[in-house]
Amino acid sequence: MIFDYGALDAIIDEAGCRSSAIIPILQGVQEKYNYLPSELFPYVAKKLKVSEARIYGVATFYENFSLEPKGKYIIKVCDGTACHVRKSIPILNKLRKLLDLSETRATTGDLGFTVETVSCLGACGLAPVITVNDKVYPAMTPEKAETLLQELQTCLAE
Ligand code: FES
Repeated sequence: MIFDYGALDAIIDEAGCRSSAIIPILQGVQEKYNYLPSELFPYVAKKLKVSEARIYGVATFYENFSLEPKGKYIIKVCDGTACHVRKSIPILNKLRKLLDLSETRATTGDLGFTVETVSCLGACGLAPVITVNDKVYPAMTPEKAETLLQELQTCLAE
């Protein structure tokens, strides 16, 4: 991937070229790339006249920021208590098996999919719940997850 410094400049201009804008700048970059490419740290540090360590500190403090590339579709399987007792783990296992992923390998090689767990999505009444790029899918089963995955794979191929 070739890093687009022009796009980063536009994000910095919009957020404001000042140290208080670190979070919106990181949010803008993550929205564009789905993660925070390493190229941004020295560049933003120089522009904002702050240390790289400070930006890195913000990036690692908030769990919504990722330093690893993620897939186009980010699937979050809730494993909070309500979802766990309603069998979220078989859904997770099914998705991982179909995508050849594991606990240590969360993203497919083609960057199509990332499968993660979360502790509670705040929709316990709809358990077990998964989200795909923040869209909520309630009352999931391994079978429904497989069908959904097939639909997403079709979208990815188009
Ligand atoms: S435990 Fe899954 S939504 Fe709350």
